[in-house]
Amino acid sequence: MRRPLVAGNWKMYGTCASIKQLLNELTEQDLPDDVDMAVFPGLIYLQAVDALLAGSGIALGAQDCAVQLEEGAMTGETSALQLKDIGCSAVLVGHSERRQLQDETDGVICRKFIAAQAAGLTPILCVGESLAERQAGQAVAKVQQQIDAVLLELGVDVFNNAVIAYEPIWAIGSGLTATPEQAQEIHAQIRAHVAKYSATVAQGLRILYGGSVKAANAAELFAQVDIDGGLVGGASLNAKEFSAICRAAGN
Ligand code: 13P
Repeated sequence: MRRPLVAGNWKMYGTCASIKQLLNELTEQDLPDDVDMAVFPGLIYLQAVDALLAGSGIALGAQDCAVQLEEGAMTGETSALQLKDIGCSAVLVGHSERRQLQDETDGVICRKFIAAQAAGLTPILCVGESLAERQAGQAVAKVQQQIDAVLLELGVDVFNNAVIAYEPIWAIGSGLTATPEQAQEIHAQIRAHVAKYSATVAQGLRILYGGSVKAANAAELFAQVDIDGGLVGGASLNAKEFSAICRAAGN
């Protein structure tokens, strides 16, 4: 059985005051004990959030890391080792907003994935197709290509300690959620693809869905056999919504 994971990606939202309030509210909610939970605040808030999460059982993650593992002359970058040093246990790699806004290529994302694992962080590899790619019938091919950029380069075993998040770009922040059937179809294809290389790794691999997940649609999505939780954007900024989504992932 794969233990569900619900991760909140706070993106570039929040202030010292709003984050403190959000975490105070979140830790007061009824949180499930059969679900892994994590939040991914903006870089400058990581340490403050780490302190506020103490004893909550909620893990801390970062939204990005440098391609280079060791410290060095890379102005503006933060290494996976530095993230580990301040209390992170996971990092997003290849979020579509970074692929689009920062021109991150599959090659760069693979290097970040390597750095994350070398530092002892769990990489959450984000994949997903655009609306045009979906309409052209290329959704599966696109997602496979993004996974292969890591899988073929590093071997299937790296997915023993990684998570994949399927986030169709057209569903992110748009209010357009993939239907449970649409999401399940891609999740099943992802698992089948990984299983071509190792059935055991595929069986243990957590595949999260992301894209307009909210309390109202979470249970239906998480009921799908190959959906092991969610990567939640907007709704993770609301303690009641996020905790309800976490509960929906449990039993
Ligand atoms: P929304 O939940 O706001 O659509 O964002 C999804 C996402 O990008 C999470 O990484």
